[in-house]
Amino acid sequence: MNPTTSTMLDTAFKKDVHDGLSAFPKFLYSKYIYDAQGDKLFQDIMELPEYYLTNSEFEILDAYKAEIASLFRGFGDGFDLIELGAGDGKKTKILLRYFSENEFNFIYKPIDISQNAIDSLTESLTIELPGVQVDPEKGMYFEVLQRIKQYKDRKKVLMVLGSNIGNLLHPKAIEFLTKLKDAMNPNDLLFMGFDQKKNPQTILDAYNDATGVTAAFNKNLLHRINRELGGNFDVDAFKHWEVYDPESGTAKSYLVATKHMRVHIEDIDLTIDFDPWETIHTEISQKYDDKIVAWLANESGLEIETSFSDSKEYYKNYVFRRKEQA
Ligand code: AVJ
Repeated sequence: MNPTTSTMLDTAFKKDVHDGLSAFPKFLYSKYIYDAQGDKLFQDIMELPEYYLTNSEFEILDAYKAEIASLFRGFGDGFDLIELGAGDGKKTKILLRYFSENEFNFIYKPIDISQNAIDSLTESLTIELPGVQVDPEKGMYFEVLQRIKQYKDRKKVLMVLGSNIGNLLHPKAIEFLTKLKDAMNPNDLLFMGFDQKKNPQTILDAYNDATGVTAAFNKNLLHRINRELGGNFDVDAFKHWEVYDPESGTAKSYLVATKHMRVHIEDIDLTIDFDPWETIHTEISQKYDDKIVAWLANESGLEIETSFSDSKEYYKNYVFRRKEQA
């Protein structure tokens, strides 16, 4: 790499955009969708009638809050509830309210990469649930996990809602789960949402809604490159496209070039050509069943303690523990 290039790729975003758009086939990481505009579009997605995930998880948390609460509390004297990717915390508040009303001894530690999300969540909790002790942290999952490992005095419950793990293909999901397991003591729990395999049409509709919110969310990647890296993508000349493979359970999002285009990205000094109908792969949203979740858990040194499902069986929240060492 020459010196000009190395100073031009001085952030992970620049490097990843450079590498992804120079690759064949082209790809971009979905984590970069979430700037302020992307956060807002994702909130709009969660309001869509087609995006059943949010309502399904909401239903589970509401229906089983007492059971979930007694699992979290166990017999000990209090616990730390650590949520990775807390976002707006709308679903978590169901549990927090229940814990608070029942005078549980706990601290809520929401973690998110978006400072935006952390600030508004903390503020809304102060107003809505003033009794809850909140200790927020902005950061990437793994940095924060390193520090969390050191919490050894009392029980921890790690929580990842929203089927966020679905953005990872299985090998990466196993790496992620293994890191979570490594941060856990024998008494700690992991509470995690996994969107389930179902009618393929229902899944396609959730990622290709009638009003085009998901298309706008996906295209925010290109807008963000234009805004932050001096790109000149003609965003409207790309088409949002969703596919779902019912065998693997993998939903994939693409942006498809509708014509030949040459794009220049000033800040990374990159010029890229698109052939008509060339693709950029932007996101995966993996769907699961009990067998796959049990396999992932086993590969990661975890075991399933129990699980909760919504009435349509669209979605499940699993409770994991560290596997007993032989
Ligand atoms: C936040 C990663 C769980 O994959 O369902 C929603 C993101 N992408 N619509 C998902 C998303 C398109 C979402 N996750």
